[in-house]
This record gives sequence, structure tokens and C-alpha cells, in this order.
Amino acid sequence: MMKTFKIGLLGLGTVGGGTVRILQETRDEIERRIGHRIEIELIAVRDLQRARLVDTDGIHLTDDPFAVVNHPDIDIVVELMGGTTLAKELLLRAIENGKQIVTANKALLAEQGNVLFALAEKNQVNIRYEAAVAGGIPIIKVLREGLAANQIEWLAGIINGTGNYILTEMAKPEADFAQVLKTAQALGYAEADPTFDVEGIDAAHKLTILASIAFGIELQFDKVYTEGITRVTAEDMEFARLFDYKIKHLGFAGRTSDGFSLRVHPALVKKEVLIANVDGVMNAVMVKGNHVGPTMYYGPGAGAGPTASSVVADIIDVIRAATQEPTERVPALGFQANRLTQAPVEPIDAIESAYYLRCYVQDHAGVLAQISGAFADLGINIEQLHQVPNAEKPQDATLVIFTEKVSERKINQALVALQALTAVDSMIQRIRIADLG
Ligand code: NAP
Ligand code: HSE
Repeated sequence: MMKTFKIGLLGLGTVGGGTVRILQETRDEIERRIGHRIEIELIAVRDLQRARLVDTDGIHLTDDPFAVVNHPDIDIVVELMGGTTLAKELLLRAIENGKQIVTANKALLAEQGNVLFALAEKNQVNIRYEAAVAGGIPIIKVLREGLAANQIEWLAGIINGTGNYILTEMAKPEADFAQVLKTAQALGYAEADPTFDVEGIDAAHKLTILASIAFGIELQFDKVYTEGITRVTAEDMEFARLFDYKIKHLGFAGRTSDGFSLRVHPALVKKEVLIANVDGVMNAVMVKGNHVGPTMYYGPGAGAGPTASSVVADIIDVIRAATQEPTERVPALGFQANRLTQAPVEPIDAIESAYYLRCYVQDHAGVLAQISGAFADLGINIEQLHQVPNAEKPQDATLVIFTEKVSERKINQALVALQALTAVDSMIQRIRIADLG
């Protein structure tokens, strides 16, 4: 029998507006798919006077978000306002009130998700969050359902659209960082606080969620090693190009012998590798399962339409689950909450990687010998060493070194030794080289 499901939205900005638009424009198709009706009952916004990008005729707006989560007729609360304080309070209340939850808020899930999922389980409600990771790519569904037969060995991805858009634009001559960031904001890609995008925090939030699903571990945002794109220079991009690499901001989560490695940072990726060619706002996530092998998922990682596409798919899933037996539902994180894996997340210096290093050095006899000596003392093999004249400091040369794979602990020792040499005239730039084989 056809039922009507009433939804309440918290937020009518980029993603909220996109969600309303889809529900208005694709209503018949969606209802045909689920066999039930969806009605928007109430939307909470901060500023009732603000002009909206979607038609709000016939939709009730309020500036009291608690009116949404306490509304007796609302079945599904769709949280698209962002933030971790008020949003948490609202979702806790909504769950206590028995509402089903859909959210795009990765910060909230990564930082407070353990509490929210526990309460949701106790109250037998769903929390769906496909839009929280990689925008329009259904990567949560892939991990919870499509690859459920596999032990996930590792996953790696470009999971911040703004950062990838900026890196792509900055590779073009005469690009200006501030201007490129402004455009990303105007296109609706950036977080309310864009430092979340450029300092890697947003990618770390998403990686936290992916790792929890992939490995059956708790959400552990505080354990993710996090480095953004702000220290990557045009010079690094040029050297990367010269040696047939591209610089991408990658999130990586993998099993190690003693636990897990969770990290986000810029990485050099060989230019012929598929993921190196994921440009602009596009995201891609590679997942290696023990049976399926390496797989890759690609699509737009931010913006109104792609993100709202995932939000509405979640609303549809919630309705389908509510009209099935509860035992047929897929658990929120894809595993049973009482069967968490307890292995630790390892510190960043436990990883092994090849490295790109760049610095300015004094241009006179014996300098290269000192530098290669420092590497030799630690048993680190240099794969390539490249020296070019330095236009800014004529007494210096720019030195670029590619090392073979070595432990991060050892490369840190080498950096300390090199930095102490009087011949080294700048901070040493270090970027890890991705091994995605
Ligand atoms: P946004 O454009 O800034 O929209 C936020 C909305 O929330 C606005 O409508 C705002 O109201 C409302 N709001 C904020 N505080 C409120 C309060 N105290 N009470 C009532 N309403 C309040 O943000 P967005 O880009 O849509 O992002 C929303 C969420 O989706 C965030 O968690 C973000 O991380 C996530 N997300 C965004 C994208 C993307 O591409 N943008 C992609 C994936 C996930 P006013 O309009 O009146 O100011
Ligand atoms: N600010 C985020 C990004 C939005 O640029 O990827 C999508 O999560």
C-alpha cells in the first residue's frame, strides 16, 4: 500500500537546495521506484529573509531547527546544515524522537559518530550518510554492500573536491591560489571554513568514515595523520611534471602487520596511473579487496547536484528499509557494532614510502658529497638526484632528490641531518610518493 513519508530538512544551502530541487524535479521517477510518496514538511534555515535558489512555494520554513526534530509528523530528518555542536544536539534529539536520519555532515560523523551510531542502534533508527564521502560517488554503498564479500586490504582516494580543483588549477601557468579558492567557494564546493579543505581536515573526516566501514574499526579521526595542500609550491608541481609525476592530495587507509595506517597528505603519483588523471572537482576512490582485487570509483566529489543525488538516494534507502523487515537492513557501518576490530592505528613514522625531497643548497664543491654522505650513513638509497640553478638565489642551486622506499622514521632522521648542514639553505620540502600497485 502506498504510504506518504514526511521529511524535515535542517539547512537549505548548497546541498539542501539541491535536495529540494531533485525532490521537485524527479518526484514521479522517485515515487515510481519506491512505491511511496515523499513530502517536505518543514525546513529550518538560519535566515528566513535570504533569497533561495529553489522554489519554496508551499514549503514551510522556520528558523527554529528544534521544530524540525521535534515535529510529530516528520519521519526522516535530513541534516544539511553542517557543524558539530548544534548539529549533534539536533540529531541526538531526532534519534531519541525515533526519526530516521540522513546527513551529509562528515565532520559530525567522523568526530561524534560513535555516540550517534550507538544511540541510533539503541533506538532502532537508521543513519544514512552517502553524501558525506566523495559527493556523488556511492562509495559507502560499495563498501557496505557491493564489496561485502571481501577483506578490504587498502583504499586510497582523492576525496576532497576543492583541494583537487585547486591543485588542478594551480598546475596551470599563472594561477592564483586565492582566486582559485574563491571560485571553488562560488561553485559551492568549499566547506564553511575552507581551511578544512586546504589543510586536509575534510579529507581526514572522510577517510575516518571509509576506514571504519572498510576495516570494522571505531571512527578514529584523532588518529589520522593529516597534511593539506598549502605547502605544495608551483616549483614542486613543475619538478613533479619534469619527472613524469603529478601531485595529488590522497587519503590512504590500509592494513599493516600490527594494525592500520590512516593518513591524508599530498603525494607524487606517476602520471600514467589512472588516479593521477582525476582532475578538477572530480573524486576517485580505489579499493583493493582480497577477492576482487583493485577497483576504482570515480565521480563528482562536491557541489549541489552530485551531493544531493546521494542525499536523495539515502532518503529512498531509508524508506525502503522502513517498509521491509528490520532484520533485512544493512547495519549502519556495514558490520555489527558488537564486533569491532580493536587493532591500533599506527603513527605516521611507521610507514614505508619512497620520497621526493626538494631544497636550496649552496652551489660549491663538496656539497653534494655531504648530502649523499648523510643518506649513505643511514643506508638510504637515492634513486635520482637533480640539480638546477636557482633563479631567486644565484649563490644557491635547487636540489631535487627521489629516494627509494625507506621507513618514514629513517627519512625523518635524514631530514634532521640534512637540515643541520650549513650548505642547506632552505627548509626541506618532503612529499611522499604513492605506491598504488
Ligand atoms: P551551506 O550552503 O552553508 O548551507 C548550510 C545551511 O544550513 C544554510 O541553509 C543555513 O541557513 C543552514 N543553517 C546553518 N546554521 C543553521 C542554524 N543554526 N539553524 C538553522 N539553519 C542553519 O552548506 P552546504 O555546502 O550545503 O553543506 C551542508 C553540509 O553538507 C555540511 O555538513 C557539508 O560539509 C556537507 N557537504 C557539502 C558538500 C558541498 O559540495 N557543498 C558536499 C558534501 C557534503 P541560511 O541559508 O539561512 O544561512
Ligand atoms: N568541501 C568538500 C569538498 C565538499 O570539496 O570535497 C564535499 O564533501
